Amino acid sequence: MPNASTPQVTGDGALVGMAAEPGEARLLAAIDRKRLPVHVAIIMDGNGRWATRRSLPRVEGHRAGVSALRAAVEACGDLGIRYLTVYAFSTENWERPEEEVGFLMDLLLDVIDRELPRLTEHGVRLRIIGDPDRLPAAVRRKLEDAVKLRPDEERMTLCIALNYGGRSEIARAARLLARDVLQGRLRPEEIGESTFASYLYTAGLPDPDLIIRTGGEHRVSNFLLWQLAYAELWITPVYWPDFNRVHFFEAIVDYQRRQRRFGRV
Ligand code: FPP
Repeated sequence: MPNASTPQVTGDGALVGMAAEPGEARLLAAIDRKRLPVHVAIIMDGNGRWATRRSLPRVEGHRAGVSALRAAVEACGDLGIRYLTVYAFSTENWERPEEEVGFLMDLLLDVIDRELPRLTEHGVRLRIIGDPDRLPAAVRRKLEDAVKLRPDEERMTLCIALNYGGRSEIARAARLLARDVLQGRLRPEEIGESTFASYLYTAGLPDPDLIIRTGGEHRVSNFLLWQLAYAELWITPVYWPDFNRVHFFEAIVDYQRRQRRFGRV
């Protein structure tokens, strides 16, 4: 989702418009457009610590995190990355104080209202993964409408993981498979990896190539457990609200230096 204040990148990687920061231009020049990750997934961590460090309430970190999310979507759009998945609310996040949970739900409603028209205009389609049942009715309704919007020219999918947990996603898939076997729609011998994957929330999405985690923790926290089998991990101590285009491009450059062997020699 390009905006007026970010330099635009043409198909061959040239910068047009405003001059990019030197670090950003150098990184952009280093990125091979033919070997981009198709799907990037992000664990947006560190909002609370970002706020606490500034003597602000934790929720201010979430509010500031929205700008970082916008920047990440724009960076994907500029490069031509097709899928971006972000972990916005986990199945464990209900354990947080009620006001923080309420704030996050309101923030989500607000983000959809404010950002969706621009996203659709720029070819970004929204998708939600996770269990909608526990979400407040207003959020559920808003999301149902939002995912129906189809851009004229689809350039990118922004997938938001909401009330998402990898283990509960796998258990749900097993439940649905068992039901289909019991009802005679599927034979147990037919259940291979691709059949199983088609019962996950992410059915039809490619597996993530690159998982970025901000906030410095070295764990996957129940995120895309099935899908991350061969993903490359990139972890930064930067708190999510401070994560910007330069960090994103650093992650891409580092990803491109890795040799992905998928278990082969
Ligand atoms: C983790 O930081 C972040 C979250 C649980 C929420 C992420 C939400 C946003 C970035 C807001 C914008 C997104 C949408 C879709 C509304 P943390 O609170 O666990 O940070 P900490 O580890 O420092 O406590």
